[in-house]
Amino acid sequence: FVVQPAPAVTYRTIGGILDFYIFLGDTPEQVVQEYLQLVGLPALPAYWNLGFQLSRYGYASLDEVKEIVERNRAVNLPYDAQVIDIEYMEKRKDFTYDKVKFKELPEFAAYLHDYGQKYIIILDPAISTQNLSDGSSYESYRRGTARKVWVNESDGVTPLLGEVIVVLH
Ligand SMILES: *[C@@H]1O[C@H](CO)[C@@H](O)[C@H](O)[C@H]1NC(C)=O
Repeated sequence: FVVQPAPAVTYRTIGGILDFYIFLGDTPEQVVQEYLQLVGLPALPAYWNLGFQLSRYGYASLDEVKEIVERNRAVNLPYDAQVIDIEYMEKRKDFTYDKVKFKELPEFAAYLHDYGQKYIIILDPAISTQNLSDGSSYESYRRGTARKVWVNESDGVTPLLGEVIVVLH
């Protein structure tokens, strides 16, 4: 699609059928309403989603996170969700957690829920190829390889390796 300087758009296609819907509302709001009449209203997000969420990268340990949660509770700061970034993981591996610094992570969700708060866990869309700290194989990588689920290089058969840049504080 190319927007031309004149009020015009050029479409170049290699085939197929294009269906055009044109919304003629006088204002942007009317156009949005007409569009929603066609496609339907979006689902309402969970109510807590609209509340304050505390999210940052770089918590040193679960103790530090809890300290911050407690401090906010002590001053009655209303917030609905606590996010912990990838520092909770063991060596930045999805579906793992650091058994030392984030030892009680499974209990942490219950600790927040008991207070009416939510816990948001961050996952990165990347699976490490390396073993765990104790040398054992990383299950997610092993299973993915066994099932050949990885995105391949353009040769169609070699799993594509990407690089995750980690900025340490
Ligand atoms: C990627 O390559 C493997 C062989 O290494 C193959 O079995 C798999 O089907 C390929 N995946 C895709 C999406 O083409």
